[in-house]
Amino acid sequence: MPTNFYDSDDFKNIDFKPLNPLYYPTEYQRYIKEETDLIKQHINGKTALEAGVGIGRLIPDLAPIAKEFVGIDNADLMLQNSKERAEGFSNVRLVKGDLENLSHLFPSKYFDVSLCVWNTLGNVKDEVVVLSELAKVTKERILVSVHLKGALEQRKNWYKTVGLSMDGVDEKNEIFYNTKSGLRSKAYSLEEIEAISKNAGLVVADHKILAGVVLWVEIESLPK
Ligand SMILES: C[S@@+](CC[C@H](N)C(=O)[O-])C[C@H]1O[C@@H](n2cnc3c(N)ncnc32)[C@H](O)[C@@H]1O
Repeated sequence: MPTNFYDSDDFKNIDFKPLNPLYYPTEYQRYIKEETDLIKQHINGKTALEAGVGIGRLIPDLAPIAKEFVGIDNADLMLQNSKERAEGFSNVRLVKGDLENLSHLFPSKYFDVSLCVWNTLGNVKDEVVVLSELAKVTKERILVSVHLKGALEQRKNWYKTVGLSMDGVDEKNEIFYNTKSGLRSKAYSLEEIEAISKNAGLVVADHKILAGVVLWVEIESLPK
């Protein structure tokens, strides 16, 4: 069983660069800026969940404006880093758990808004299960961002720039693999995200293309 990439020394040894926008090519820096502004508008004064919180990259931006911010991740290394970023914010809680199991970890419709950004959805085993679980714990919207299909060359350059070795690539479907850790990173078209949402019983309410490389979608989390 390979070690989870996000828990591995490989990730530590490249200084977590894939989650640090300082190291990104220009268009990815622009994506991060545009996305952070959008997220801020949505979570101001709200109780928010970040599904796949990573190193807590967004905590310094979001904790000061959210009512409550909860981050969940299944990688200890990520939680350790995000806990450091959360120091001093009394409204932040970090939880270890699997995104396929959210409804067992949080009360029904506990969060106003949920985030599943920077292609976390493109890493999970089953996107439909993760979206369904997010809907169970979210009242209003689920904010998702994924690699946009059609930006393969920019994406290759991004992996190279941040030092992330993806040793397998399915160019036709735009899926990259790190065979050692089992990391898989997919890209999507809007139609594919709409179909996944539909399979989870959900509807895409709005979308945007950010910096030509990332697809941002807002999924309505209807009351059940
Ligand atoms: C691409 S990173 C994004 C991190 C963060 N959202 C950001 O924007 O900087 C994906 C994160 O999701 C976590 N993750 C992936 N699959 C998961 C799962 N099934 N359950 C919990 N966490 C998961 C990984 O450990 C990693 O920290």
